[in-house]
Amino acid sequence: MTEEMNSKATMEKIVNLCRRRGFIFQSSEIYGGLTSCWDFGPLGVELKRNVKEAWWKDMVQSRDDMVGLDTSILMHPQVWVASGHIKSFHDPLVECKSCQKRWRADELEKPACPACGGELSEPRQFNMMFKTFMGPVEDSAAVIYLRPETAQGMFVNFQNVVTTTRKKLPFGIAQMGKSFRNEITTGNFIFRDREFEQMEIEYFVKPGTQDKWFEFWVAERFKWWQKLGIKAEHLKLRQHCKEELAHYALGCSDIQFAFPMGWGELEGVASRGDYDLTQHSNASGKNLSYTDEETKEHYLPYVIEPSAGVDRGVLAFLCDAYDEDVADGEPRSILRLHPRIAPVKAAVLPLSKKEPLPSLARDIFNDLRSSWVVQYDDTQSIGRRYRRQDEIGTPFCITIDFQTLEDKQVTVRERDSMAQIRLPISELKGTLAAKLAGEALGQGSHVWKAGDGKTP
Ligand code: GAP
Repeated sequence: MTEEMNSKATMEKIVNLCRRRGFIFQSSEIYGGLTSCWDFGPLGVELKRNVKEAWWKDMVQSRDDMVGLDTSILMHPQVWVASGHIKSFHDPLVECKSCQKRWRADELEKPACPACGGELSEPRQFNMMFKTFMGPVEDSAAVIYLRPETAQGMFVNFQNVVTTTRKKLPFGIAQMGKSFRNEITTGNFIFRDREFEQMEIEYFVKPGTQDKWFEFWVAERFKWWQKLGIKAEHLKLRQHCKEELAHYALGCSDIQFAFPMGWGELEGVASRGDYDLTQHSNASGKNLSYTDEETKEHYLPYVIEPSAGVDRGVLAFLCDAYDEDVADGEPRSILRLHPRIAPVKAAVLPLSKKEPLPSLARDIFNDLRSSWVVQYDDTQSIGRRYRRQDEIGTPFCITIDFQTLEDKQVTVRERDSMAQIRLPISELKGTLAAKLAGEALGQGSHVWKAGDGKTP
């Protein structure tokens, strides 16, 4: 483990928390599980949706130079011939002659089976695309593929987007969705899956300006992960050397995160020239060139591709946010998630089940849930309820006590600092909105008192 890593967040703790609190389950668990496929539970689905929505809001809806797409997973088989995936989307596979376990040859440190030390076969190329059949006849003419990336859906729609939106260069197309890869080696929880989601951008630029835009997107995407809470020291850039680059690529940088098992790729930003549009133009016979209205030139734009994994993003956010400390004399584990991605934004906790407290608490709960995902919890001690919310990353807890009946005020407790304020119910929604949008604790009209997590 390097110094940069969050030493409290071991993979075992993250996996256990995700299982125990309903973030992530193994796919088909009651049948023994399906390797490298995962189901997002009630909290996981909220977290994942929040990550995707933050990306969509920041990368698509807030930008004048970006439009979105949602293309089909199944595409014409010629797409994958033209893109180069049929020919070269391979990993080198070796098999142990003793225990028959399979490994990726390029990931082995020694030329022997990592499981039993046995002799390995010669590497053979293994195509990672999942195949299926379209229509009722299962013959070779009916073979189609589950897409291994969302990118090609954007390239093949380039002309549709230009003609329907009249976008001028530079502009981007963005989409997110499922991708499938028959990975040889998987593991490390949701880091490398066979079914996963990507958030990809194809940003088209005038040839000659690609270096400037490549730098722009590397910086933009690096900042985005930090804006959503990832600590700067847990992120780094890795520039691909010449030997690693595909023959057409002009440059590529990975944004890496300090996962518990080591530095790993979170997102790749590639400068791909006009390779993809050229390939699809040649293979389809369709003219995919762009007409520059100012100069009247026709050319194929170059493309910059920032491509991120949603599942890897979720894992990075969980690992980065995980913390342990002591509150009220008891150890607590916390997910210090950014409020934008926290699955539950607030919890309403009545201090007694004696009416009219629950009715009032329910009214507040119903009012808040019209704006956010909010939980209502009236079981066990207040300390236990705080711990439960801290562990799933809920930024704010709202307690309602008998005093509330008299002064119409509630106590709001902040997850990270455990600081508390008392404020009128009429100001609760506005204050929460400001705090969830990132207003610092000390700001605003209310003064937070240093808290110890005890009953207010
Ligand atoms: N269109 C370019 C492309 O797909 P990639 O580097 O192969 O590039 C982009 O994938 C991102 O997708 C990676 O940085 C990673 O976050 C995610 N990703 C790739 N393979 C994955 C897998 N098997 N499981 C989970 N995420 C994966």
